[in-house]
Order: sequence, then C-alpha cells, then structure tokens
Amino acid sequence: MGDLIKVEGGKHLTGSVRVEGAKNSALKLMAATIIASGRSTIQNVPDIADVHVMAEVLEVLGAKIDKGDHELTIDTSTLDSFTTPYELVHKMRASISMLGPLLTRFGRACIALPGGCQIGSRKLDLHFSSLEALGVEFETEHGYINATTPDGLTGAFVTLEFPSVGATENLMMASISADGHTTIDNAAREPEIVDLANMLCEMGAHIEGQGSPTIEIEGVKEFHPCTHRTVGDRIEAGTFLVAGALGGGPVDVIGAQPAHLALAITKLQRMGCEVSSKGDVITVSRTGDLLPADIQTLPHPGFPTDLQAQFMVACTIANGNSIITENVFENRYAAAWELVRMGADIRIEMQHALVRGVPRLSGAPVESPDLRGGAALVLAGLVAEGETTVSNVHHIDRGYENYVEKLRSLGASVTRVPEE
Ligand code: UD1
Repeated sequence: MGDLIKVEGGKHLTGSVRVEGAKNSALKLMAATIIASGRSTIQNVPDIADVHVMAEVLEVLGAKIDKGDHELTIDTSTLDSFTTPYELVHKMRASISMLGPLLTRFGRACIALPGGCQIGSRKLDLHFSSLEALGVEFETEHGYINATTPDGLTGAFVTLEFPSVGATENLMMASISADGHTTIDNAAREPEIVDLANMLCEMGAHIEGQGSPTIEIEGVKEFHPCTHRTVGDRIEAGTFLVAGALGGGPVDVIGAQPAHLALAITKLQRMGCEVSSKGDVITVSRTGDLLPADIQTLPHPGFPTDLQAQFMVACTIANGNSIITENVFENRYAAAWELVRMGADIRIEMQHALVRGVPRLSGAPVESPDLRGGAALVLAGLVAEGETTVSNVHHIDRGYENYVEKLRSLGASVTRVPEE
C-alpha cells in the first residue's frame, strides 16, 4: 500500500518555491561518472526515487557513493562490472543511459532490457542503430542486450531519424572516445543535453554544438573525474508555474533558467497570466479568467511533452476551448481520463485532445497514471471543489522532491497520508 495525496481545493496560492536540479539531467550525469575512473562530484542532485535507483545501479556495478546534501560523490575507480541488473533496470528506463558510458569505459556493456523491449522495437531502435554506426555490435540473450566493440569505436556521421533525447545522450557518451570525428545530425537540443555535454567536456571530451541540431565530437582517449552542478529542473519549475497560475499568485519559482521555459511562459501569458523573470526567478500571477490555449508538444525548443498534462489541467477550467496535440509520445493522455472523472470536458482523438473549459472541477478520488500525470492531478485538486485524493503517489516520488510540502508552503491545503 502506498501513500495518498489529499487536496482541499480553492485556496489562494502565493509565495516562493525553489526547484531542485533537473531529474532528466542528474540521472545522465550520474551515468557519465562511469566514463572516468575516480571520484566525481555532482551537485544540485534532486532527492527523488529515480536518483536512488540510479545510485543503486551504479553501486551494483561496483561504484562507491558518498551521499551529501543534494550532492553525490561517486567513486568509479572500483567499478568491476558492466552488467546492469533487470531488477533495477525495469524500474527506470533511464538505465539505458549506462550504455554509452560503459562502452567508453570498457568497450562493452550488458544492459537488461526494460520489459517487452527488444532490439529494433520503436522505443530503443535509435539508440541501437546510431551506436551501430560507431561499430557497436548488439546481441540479445535472456532479456539482456550485449554490446561489444570488436574493432573499437570509430567516429561516424549519424543522422537521427527523430531528435531522441536518450539516443543523443548515448551517442555523445560513446563517441567521445571513438577514433576520429563524429557528427550527430538532427540531435536533441534539450537543456539537459547541453548540461551533459558540458560535464563531458569538463571530463576531457571535445564536444561542440550542444544545444544546436548538429553536435560535433572529436574522440579522445583520456578522461578525468570532475565536479559538476546539475542544471535547474525546468519541468518542476513549469509545474509550479501552473500551480501559481491556478492559485492566483504571485508565486516566485526560483532555480530554473527562464530561457529553458520560453514557450511555457508564452503560453501562460496568452492564457491571461502575468509572467516576468529576473535571473533565475520566474514570477507568475493571475487576476482574470484563464483563457484557452493551443498547445503542441515538440522536441525542445518546442513545448515540452513533460508539461502537457499540467497545462491540460489549466485548460480544463479555461474560459473556452483548448486544443492540445501530443507529438512526442503516442499515448500520453492517461491523466485526461482521471480529469474527466473530476468533471473536466475532454475529448481525445488520435494525438489531439479537445478540452472544453468548465466553470469548476469537482474533487474526486483519482489515480496517478504516471509521473507528470500524477503531478497534474494534484494541481487539478487545487482548483476542484471539495476533496481530491490522488493514489499511486510513488509515480510522483520518482521526479518531485517534497511536492506536497512545497505546494503547502504556497498556501495549498495538501497532505500526504498512508493508504488505509
Ligand atoms: C526523455 C525524458 C522524458 C521526456 C522525453 C522527451 C529522461 C530520463 N526522460 O526521455 O522525461 O518526456 O525525453 O522530451 O530524460 N523513440 C524511438 N526510438 C528510440 C528512442 C525514442 O522511437 O530509440 C521515440 C519514443 O518512443 C518517443 C520519442 O521518440 O516517442 C521521444 O523519446 P526520447 O526523446 O528518446 O525520450 P527519452 O530519452 O526516453
């Protein structure tokens, strides 16, 4: 039995909230420590379940980890295994990001495949095909994928069919040690890619063009440990900006780069919110009605799919009809069905969601379907009449540190209780 989050709707939200380091960066930075034997320190690491799982995977590989206050010192000089175990990998898809670092360090890797995922399947095909271009050979056996480099890693020109975040990261982490030059064409441009590339450069890699669609890498053979600070979590920040928009504000969201949230901020402004920023502080407030929105998720710098469910909540009570189009994942509307149970008017057709604004949501027991969907349902509870109870809170714990406490510090009536 997990915990429940209970929300009493209708409270005015105001104050300030600090976001942690980005989950989607920290996990890859942790994996990258494998590349250089020795003690690397990663700062601004969020204290969330996915980070704990990644730490366990590193420990199983033989690393020693000192855990400080939002800081991990990872000693990879004792690493003596290149096999990531299924028991841990099935909990978190991001374990696939061990592949690139293990290939650079050992020239081989053995990674348990997440359930149902085979070579060539949609979800990881780009990881495999792009690494094959560098000379990596893959074989699947007993649910594990064996990656070897019989002739070493050789630089190549690789065009990604889709700017996959994970595939770009794995390719960067393998090609930094390849013989010669690698070009990643149609690379992902997310801020977390830039963060990882910057850390790899601090470790001795030669990378240019991170943050653009073309990344150029000159292979080198020597890497050294480093100390790196994780970039602020733009998705956590976006989640609290929506909370502020729903709860009136002003709410100051501190610790993320406004430039990383450019489109989300523009959408909130078009929806009738006042949003301003100074340094790493973004302030949101709203006095009038929420206006409807037209949102299309796209790879960065497009609107982030990881904020789609939270913005959908704002659309449910907007004054008019909104259209949301999910272009990154095929099936990412699970939270919508729970929102309908709270009185939202949502019609889904293929990758489109038509959201007709209603005057108010009504509190109900709902189930968190996934990480961002779960966070969004708690937001929905903030503007619902009466009590909303969100179950399956473990999904939210994967990516949000102290979500309940942070919302409460803004004035929300939110508590976490054990499920009876
Ligand atoms: C990362 C983020 C996730 C975010 C996503 C898109 C982490 C831990 N997770 O996930 O929060 O929602 O980026 O911004 O960083 N695809 C393929 N074949 C592949 C790889 C991906 O078809 O080999 C497809 C996926 O099925 C999906 C799309 O490409 O439809 C985007 O995936 P990708 O960019 O790779 O996301 P992740 O790195 O898994």
